[in-house]
Amino acid sequence: MMSKQFDVIVIGAGPGGYIAAIRAAQLGYQVACVDEWKNDKGGPAPGGTCTNVGCIPSKALLQSSEHFDHASHHFAEHGIEVKGLGLDLARMIGRKDTVVKQNNDGILYLFKKNKVTFFHGRGSFVKAADGGYEIKVAGTAEETLVGKHIVVATGSSARALPGAPFDEQNILSNDGALRIGAVPKKLGLIGSGVIGLEMGSVWRRLGAEVTVLEGLPTFLGAVDEQIAREAHKAFVKQGLKIELGVKVGDVKTSKKGVSVAYANAKGEAQTLEVDKLIVSIGRVPNTTGLNAEAVGLKLDERGAIVVDDDCKASLPNVWAVGDVVRGPMLAHKAEEEGVAVAERIAGQHGHVNFNTIPWVIYTSPEIAWVGQTEQQLKASGRAYKAGTFPFLANGRARALGDTTGMVKFLADATTDEILGVHIVGPMASELIAEAVVAMEFRASSEDIARICHAHPSLSEATKEAALAVDKRTLNF
Ligand code: FAD
Ligand code: NAI
Repeated sequence: MMSKQFDVIVIGAGPGGYIAAIRAAQLGYQVACVDEWKNDKGGPAPGGTCTNVGCIPSKALLQSSEHFDHASHHFAEHGIEVKGLGLDLARMIGRKDTVVKQNNDGILYLFKKNKVTFFHGRGSFVKAADGGYEIKVAGTAEETLVGKHIVVATGSSARALPGAPFDEQNILSNDGALRIGAVPKKLGLIGSGVIGLEMGSVWRRLGAEVTVLEGLPTFLGAVDEQIAREAHKAFVKQGLKIELGVKVGDVKTSKKGVSVAYANAKGEAQTLEVDKLIVSIGRVPNTTGLNAEAVGLKLDERGAIVVDDDCKASLPNVWAVGDVVRGPMLAHKAEEEGVAVAERIAGQHGHVNFNTIPWVIYTSPEIAWVGQTEQQLKASGRAYKAGTFPFLANGRARALGDTTGMVKFLADATTDEILGVHIVGPMASELIAEAVVAMEFRASSEDIARICHAHPSLSEATKEAALAVDKRTLNF
């Protein structure tokens, strides 16, 4: 079989891979993108974890379940009476699946538009060849490709608890957690990280009694402590049971459900009996099946591809981006790396600023941050000033009926440069963008405080928090 030649072959069509492929095609290269994800009919489903079992479906269910929660508990305070409220879970899941398919189709359209050749199947290294690398595609498409540059963007998969593999019926990864057929009466979650809190929120809002078992003694250790405390208070008030500092032991499944043996923070033996268990204890890079050893591509002890700051792997013209390399496992980080790599292939100066990558947890209240936390600044000995402003004092938040939380600014004590912005509250996911722009331009808190913000808007809380750094809030 004749091999097909490309300038760039991207393995994986998640946010890292498909964006790298599009950007490389924009820069004039002949580009192939290989992805093995299948939809329920066996057809291609590009978009990776993010589109199929991650960002997009989780946000669809978060939105639907939030509507249900509002109709159940909050419409009355607006004077809206709802009688005979019901839940059609199959339809809710069906809507989520439609949203996913729209995104899959959107990516296939973008490939066509940008003349990226898509191959549906598993890509693996065969050998170094013709000044590049030979890549075998196995699956719907059986091909041999040769590419001058290879971009590996194979993403990550959920990590299982030792001795408790995912069966997606009782012990669920993020995949099964997004398609439970009936609302479980009791739902257990191991890990109170990002997935635990988002998925726990979805199923709690739909009526499940949710218990989260977390190994660490602190709640959301990577989040600014003040913000994490506020969020914890809100989640507990909503009915989420969160046990910190536990040690999870044997997990057993039976016809009745799942039984989890664990020691609580005091070391006492406990058992949690639930109908379903979601395990969300982090993710592992996808490198099995890539045949990295055939070309001597270096992996680290976690199986991640070793790359430098520029996403260059250990072999010439081999690059890797996204969840399969170091750094936060976030779709927008993967995308930024994908763009930067395509630009570096073209000899340009692609750049990713790791200090300004925002984080968002899409719970209610939402949690979002960029830059350093107060505990990080203390640990590094940097002198800083802090300013906070509560949504309780924001007119738009009151009108929305959603006044939980605050905006918090951290700025250098001498120069006033913004070092971190932390938000817990309504639409934190959108509000954080202003802080990212400000930090990217190395703005001071005074810069934000002097900018006119629309009234009434939640963004006024951002301006007020910036004013609070200089102890001159106007509305609090
Ligand atoms: P992936 O999206 O994992 O894509 C990798 C692709 O490569 C997959 O399609 C896979 O099938 C394919 N592949 C793997 N090996 C091969 C091979 N050998 N040949 C061919 N194809 C292969 N991040 C956010 O920023 N915001 C969120 O709201 C968010 N929500 C999330 C919710 C959940 C439940 C989960 C699990 C994750 C969430 N994430 C979120 C994280 C986000 O999904 C990942 O960071 C992102 O998908 C990483 O992109 P990627 O391109 O590196 O890999
Ligand atoms: P995570 O790293 O966010 O959280 C895992 C949690 O499990 C941690 O708190 C950890 O201490 C705990 N843990 C680990 N082992 C444990 C054990 N044996 N027993 C009890 N607790 C244990 O990982 P998660 O939630 O699986 O998500 C993976 C990644 O996916 C996230 O880190 C994030 O990068 C990405 N993601 C991003 C989202 C977003 O941006 N909104 C949403 C969902 C996922």
